[in-house]
Amino acid sequence: MEIEIKQGGIQTAEADTIVVNLFEGVTVPSGATGAVDQALQGAIKELIDSGDLSGKAGELVALYSRGAIPARRVLVVGLGKAELFDQEAARKAAASAALKARELKTETLATIVHGAGNGNLDLAKAAQATIEASLLAMYEYEAPRKTAKPKHAIQHLQVVEIDAASLPAIESGRKMAEAVAAGTCLARDLVNMAPNIATPSRMADAAERIANAHGMELTVGDRDWATERDMGAFLAVAQGAGKPPKFIVLEHHAGKADEPTLVLVGKGITFDSGGLSLKPSENMGAMKSDMGGAAAVLGAMKAVGMLDLPLHVIGIAPCTENMPDANAYRPADVISASNGKTIEIISTDAEGRMVLADALVYAGRYQPKAVVDLATLTGACVIALGKDMAAGLFSNDESLAERLLNSSQATHERLWRMPLWDDYKKSIESDVADIKNTGGRMGGVATSAIFLKEFTDFPWAHLDIAGMAMTDKSSGYKPSGGTGFGVRLLVDFLLNWS
Ligand code: BES
Ligand code: MN
Ligand code: ZN
Repeated sequence: MEIEIKQGGIQTAEADTIVVNLFEGVTVPSGATGAVDQALQGAIKELIDSGDLSGKAGELVALYSRGAIPARRVLVVGLGKAELFDQEAARKAAASAALKARELKTETLATIVHGAGNGNLDLAKAAQATIEASLLAMYEYEAPRKTAKPKHAIQHLQVVEIDAASLPAIESGRKMAEAVAAGTCLARDLVNMAPNIATPSRMADAAERIANAHGMELTVGDRDWATERDMGAFLAVAQGAGKPPKFIVLEHHAGKADEPTLVLVGKGITFDSGGLSLKPSENMGAMKSDMGGAAAVLGAMKAVGMLDLPLHVIGIAPCTENMPDANAYRPADVISASNGKTIEIISTDAEGRMVLADALVYAGRYQPKAVVDLATLTGACVIALGKDMAAGLFSNDESLAERLLNSSQATHERLWRMPLWDDYKKSIESDVADIKNTGGRMGGVATSAIFLKEFTDFPWAHLDIAGMAMTDKSSGYKPSGGTGFGVRLLVDFLLNWS
């Protein structure tokens, strides 16, 4: 879908479908909606007066112009109460209009910026929300099929604004939206791919494409590379893997010494069978999404490249499968991580924290201002917060946590703060090593975080995205499947760093 920004009145747009909006309780439409109402000789006002249109959030009414304007049909989308309106309300409105327009086989869709007429939303942000949600709602995974399923796609999205002075802000919102949507859709694609396709090598290919497109430095470490760096924890998980592991490091603005250094780390288990601590076969397939953290990091790096952010950003994705095998690591093994700490294996299914341990140690070499890791780490996090609800946020740094919570608020990629109390450490004490890799059933989400903390000596935040990387429900701009959760959050976080 191509985005075009146009100056003019939406009632004159040369499109098959146009979108206007209405706040709840408005009885006399004004602005762009008013202009369309006038052109249609009061058809929108009539809907309002007859009670068929109220402006409630989620409401969508289609009417036909019958030659009164160039567009065949008009969609009026409800924005809800003006005092509750925010970027997320704009996203939801844009997504529901775009979904309806696609269903109606629209080729060219014209929309106003939701919230442009409303003083309390920054225009660039309103434009970003409108365009971003339209792009994200139209996402479809192209499954590898011999016979492609023909599906209708909207070709053009015109964003129409009457005031010429507003165009630069809309243009900047569009640039953000396109970058963020491209990154999110990449992450969705990687999660949606089958685990025999989205292998560690395929993840490395994705990283290489980003590096080539945006002039980033790329390192793809194999088993030997990791062995040279004493990454025993990463290698232990990779030991049983049939697909070769890849330790991916993407560096944006490598060597720019004057820019703050921020590191993103993503768990990249391309399939988590549990290893010898084998998972039940029912639902095991969902563990193709266990590289959702790595996918989000690659997606964010893509957006960072497209926006050429003035920061030194490093994306690290330790990628491997976790498989049972004659060579697989075992419960009771004692493993030495790259910082020298030894780990007693209780469960080979607690593999995410193992690969992250070496990745976090590796992050430390950059002397980062902050490190944020994203990982589908624990089922316990999903039990605590719910499916598709929020990621758990753990941090050893108050200002970093606050920045992430602000970005969470802005992007509606929800985070919920969880405790990192030292007392949790008791539960991972080991008789045969420095620590053990699980702390038992109680507080499983916090004990996994306290394990990771052992490998950090910098401002750090851990996001447990186990309940967020993949969904089986479609809703608005989030179709079922890979969600790309974290990309929008990370980009907002980086953008607001300075
Ligand atoms: N990848 C899983 C966690 C997970 C569960 C992600 C559900 C997404 C949805 C992780 O590697 C795992 O197996 N965790 C174990 C930890 C346990 C062995 C301490 C778990 O949550 O059961
Ligand atoms: Mn596991
Ligand atoms: Zn896992």
